[in-house]
Amino acid sequence: MNGLQRQTMYKAVQLGLLAALMGLLAACSVLQLSAQPARPVPGGDVQRGAVAIRAYGCGSCHNIPGVAGADSMAGPPLDDWADRQYISGKLPNQPELLIQWVRFPQAIEPGGAMPNLDVTEQDARDISAYLFTLTGD
Ligand code: HEC
Repeated sequence: MNGLQRQTMYKAVQLGLLAALMGLLAACSVLQLSAQPARPVPGGDVQRGAVAIRAYGCGSCHNIPGVAGADSMAGPPLDDWADRQYISGKLPNQPELLIQWVRFPQAIEPGGAMPNLDVTEQDARDISAYLFTLTGD
């Protein structure tokens, strides 16, 4: 192998490594974007849920991982939400029931400290999709 051939070979190896690295990065970002709820929430959009959580100010009472500023301990922390068995110690933790809770906590827990926040059905669905991505696994 002469010098030029060796240089060409090194170049090819370098390009190959670069391509592999870029493939890996692309795979990672795709995984990140397609974070699926541990329990599917039909019609719920995870990204819009994160935005809605900020818009309704849920973080002024709850600690919610991945939502900037959502670090209050006034209400129970919502980390690892997908691993919880009950909503407010009462309802089975299922998507449709979580949507009802987010919209009408006062109907479920009259006099409780979580206020009704006039959350729309779609926003509650998106919020639930987000909360069900939170898991300790
Ligand atoms: C003013 C404070 C406050 C705000 C704002 C608030 N919550 Fe709550 N939330 C609470 C309190 C207090 C509880 C516990 C109530 C109970 O268990 O009866 C609670 C309970 C919950 C629970 C059940 C927690 C568990 O451990 O079972 C969920 C889920 C929840 N809130 C989601 C939300 C979402 C989503 C929003 C925004 C749309 C929100 N909360 C806004 C105070 C608040």
